[in-house]
Amino acid sequence: MEVDCRKLALFNVDGNVYALDDLCTHGHARLSEGEFEGHEVECPLHAGVFDVRTGRAVCAPLTRDARCHAVKVERGDVFIATGIAAEPRP
Ligand code: FES
Repeated sequence: MEVDCRKLALFNVDGNVYALDDLCTHGHARLSEGEFEGHEVECPLHAGVFDVRTGRAVCAPLTRDARCHAVKVERGDVFIATGIAAEPRP
């Protein structure tokens, strides 16, 4: 999905929606095309793993966290503030 000219990847973890920049911080790969399980997404290119709740880079080859955006869900509508970093929830 694209918001304010940013490509984002949305993830649902136990009913909570999280939004990360879709582009991996390691290379040119889309996290929305990665393997998603639990609260982690694996990059499809080199298998780096991000915690989608925070954007934290969990393992090599990643050295930089993904940008995590604030998300609010109201009556089924998802609102994303791309200029505001999400507060850590987990
Ligand atoms: S491009 Fe994502 S881990 Fe390398």
